[in-house]
Amino acid sequence: SFSGGHSTPGWASVLSECSERNTQLERRADRECKHHQNCVYCFFSGKGQSLQVFLVSLGLERHQTTKLTLNDILEINTETLHESNPRTLEEIPWYFLRKVMALNGMARRTRLVSTAPGDNGISMEGAEPIAIIPPPSPAPSLGVNPLDVLCAVLCSSDRFLQQEILLKMSMCQFALPLLLPALDTPQCTLMLWAMRDISQQQQHDFFMHRDMESGNVPRDISEGLVEISWYFPGGRENSDPFQEPIAVINLRGNIESHLQQFSFLAKVSSAVFIFAECISERKCELLSSLQGLRTKFYFIFNPKSTITSKTQGFLNELAPLLQLTQSQVLVKDNTTNDSDFVTRLQATLAHLMKQPQRAVSIEGMAVTARELGFEVDEDYKECEEARKRADEITGEIRDVVEYKKRALKLQGDPWRRLAAVERELCRMKKQGETPTEVYKSQLRGELLELRTQQNSCDLTGGMGTFRASLEQLCPMESHYFLKWMRFGLNYIARENLSKLRSEYKEIYRTPGYNPEELAKLDELIAASSLGVEHFMRELGQFYEAEQSVCKEGRIAQSQRQFTHLPGTAVNLMLNGFPLEIIDGDASHVPLQWVTDVLTELHAKLEGKSRLLVLSVLGVQSTGKSTLLNSMFGLQLAVSSGRCTRGAFMMLIKVAETFQQELGCDFILVIDAEGLRAPQLAKLEDSYEHDNELATLVIGLSDIVIVNMAMENTSEMKDILQIVVHAFLRMKEIGHKPNCLFVHQNVSDVSAHEQNMRDRNNFLEHLNEMTKKNNWYIPGLWHGVPPMAPVNLGYSESVCELKKYFIEFMRSRTLDREPRDIPQFTKWVRNL
Ligand SMILES: *[C@@H]1O[C@H](CO)[C@@H](O)[C@H](O)[C@H]1NC(C)=O
Ligand SMILES: *[C@@H]1O[C@H](CO)[C@@H](O)[C@H](O)[C@H]1NC(C)=O
Ligand SMILES: *[C@@H]1O[C@H](CO)[C@@H](O)[C@H](O)[C@H]1NC(C)=O
Ligand SMILES: *[C@@H]1O[C@H](CO)[C@@H](O)[C@H](O)[C@H]1NC(C)=O
Repeated sequence: SFSGGHSTPGWASVLSECSERNTQLERRADRECKHHQNCVYCFFSGKGQSLQVFLVSLGLERHQTTKLTLNDILEINTETLHESNPRTLEEIPWYFLRKVMALNGMARRTRLVSTAPGDNGISMEGAEPIAIIPPPSPAPSLGVNPLDVLCAVLCSSDRFLQQEILLKMSMCQFALPLLLPALDTPQCTLMLWAMRDISQQQQHDFFMHRDMESGNVPRDISEGLVEISWYFPGGRENSDPFQEPIAVINLRGNIESHLQQFSFLAKVSSAVFIFAECISERKCELLSSLQGLRTKFYFIFNPKSTITSKTQGFLNELAPLLQLTQSQVLVKDNTTNDSDFVTRLQATLAHLMKQPQRAVSIEGMAVTARELGFEVDEDYKECEEARKRADEITGEIRDVVEYKKRALKLQGDPWRRLAAVERELCRMKKQGETPTEVYKSQLRGELLELRTQQNSCDLTGGMGTFRASLEQLCPMESHYFLKWMRFGLNYIARENLSKLRSEYKEIYRTPGYNPEELAKLDELIAASSLGVEHFMRELGQFYEAEQSVCKEGRIAQSQRQFTHLPGTAVNLMLNGFPLEIIDGDASHVPLQWVTDVLTELHAKLEGKSRLLVLSVLGVQSTGKSTLLNSMFGLQLAVSSGRCTRGAFMMLIKVAETFQQELGCDFILVIDAEGLRAPQLAKLEDSYEHDNELATLVIGLSDIVIVNMAMENTSEMKDILQIVVHAFLRMKEIGHKPNCLFVHQNVSDVSAHEQNMRDRNNFLEHLNEMTKKNNWYIPGLWHGVPPMAPVNLGYSESVCELKKYFIEFMRSRTLDREPRDIPQFTKWVRNL
């Protein structure tokens, strides 16, 4: 907009934003502020409006040099228990971060809570009359503009945290910063890297506007911020305003003060809507320089009174240069009905989109950004170097199934055989007449043969580069490297996987489906999946194979090549990457590998490794990973259809000041694959796999959350049966984890009641075994994605659940001996 643009709530404000700031600033300078002590603006204007001052006011100044990291945000501390609305400016950034990580749609609420002023508690019964005092103009605001908070937080965060913040913001359906103003950089920055993780978007106000809480607070550091938001049609022809996906970009501040950003927008957009009161000579000059672009320009005039003849004249001058037609000039004056105007704008956009448009990716925008001399957040040596290496690996993958056979050789048939033999060694089911010791030694011999076979393989395909990268790159580079690997692999596998997953979901939802068909699809999904975990698993197998043959004396200790790997894995774990404990393909626990990684971790922590273990179990596709993600701000992959396979563990640090109180140094979170549909469970191996998984997970945990998000009673019976069996087995060996039932979106009341009856039967069994609790959480989405907003109730319930969990553990520090890593490792071996 040009200065003086007028914003209205709703759709129109998506495209416009008033730039009252300048006038407000002037007004502020003019007036004597009577509310000096509470007035944020007086505070700033007294000291100057620089970024530095703003950061100081939010208590973020030291993070200009030492950037905040994801680990800083995820740390469990006393705040977890005492979350409240911000009372001081310093609390605002943390409030924002906590809420956005928990997918809370109110994260942008930056108003300070205040105690009612002047209330001294003395009753005024029958006392003097009460005077009505009009609010001062402009009213002193107890808060800051949310966009300023966003800019300040981004300035104080490292690039990985920035990426995470934008991902969570996109899930909350907030508009995202596309160009960050030149705050601590010489030029504004295109947030390309920061948006890399956003693979999907799911009726909030996308953009902050004046009528939202604190939206009227003048902006301090976020002038010139450019935001982006997406709209995706949901395939509902009558109710979707647009039939094609669109991105809307919004410049905060007026064009004349942000010419560079404006020319960027003019170059990358299909259409630019300019909000203006009038056209002056200067504006006319500026706009005429835009001729020759392919972009279509629209003018939306909101004059103070009427369109002047001067404006009319300049518009006529511009018309041939910008190829304006009558339909590209709209007027919104004080008689215009807002909702009618919104409809008119939508129609204009819909009409525009009927014509062929070029599609621009954000990667494509980076070219324009660089031409204009902007910074691009990926143009850093560490990031580029890491990308080169990841591209080298992913670049040679054409067909996932074929690649896995070729490059991930150790996960082939010998591995499956190995898993089976190891299991038989524990169970001795097929021993028959053979004497026990003879049988065992046969099996051990077979194991050694299989390990020797594995050990004779070389690191092929990308494996060599993968391993070398993890060992050679500095921590920051390897963080980038793993991210690039993930983006690359997701990109490759995406198309086939999403097709298979939707087929799977469709069959799964059809009553009376053929389980064989589902099982086949399940296998196809597994075969077509390729993630960083497969590469890590391969390294784990190399490690195990070498260890076995060394133990048997077939190679000397000095010949071992993979002894550094556990240390590498520990660094990754401490950086928040998950470690696989059991895979979903062969149900194999790489015991030596897991043990050695954990032992190394214990050493690295200098023995301070007391753990609390939390896990989630439930039917597939019921949002278990999403629950953990919103509870702890983790980054577990989520999508509909079977996603997590096997089980992974992640470390979350407890703040040092809170360790004593909570009785542990870390919380270890186990994310486990969903248990299968009952029909599938009847198929060979499937039930066994689920039982093994549940037993391992429950056996390792202090608290098990059983996620009961399902409509189908028979499914629930099945899950409960598996859970109860696992608990019974644990009782036999003297382990009594706590169990927490979470009920998610039980929409149908009768189903709910039936569920309750069934559940109560099982609970009687459980009663004797374990302490437990029930919890209710509403569904994550409010409606049907892609444009369904996140349910505020979901985020808040999950937050309460987390508080409950922390409080529960705290209250029990006295009656339990916390396990440390060596004890935990012993459990893994026993199980
Ligand atoms: C609209 O603006 C005109 C011109 O300034 C003014 O005369 C009129 O009173 C305004 N109408 C309303 C409803 O505010
Ligand atoms: C705009 O018009 C609609 C009907 O077309 C009406 O319901 C609404 O109240 C009007 N809004 C205003 C602000 O006049
Ligand atoms: C996707 O599936 C098709 C058909 O099975 C296959 O030819 C293709 O190679 C697969 N793509 C990838 C990236 O694996
Ligand atoms: C609950 O789940 C049903 C079925 O999956 C869905 O149709 C409904 O929209 C959900 N309700 C909420 C509030 O999420």
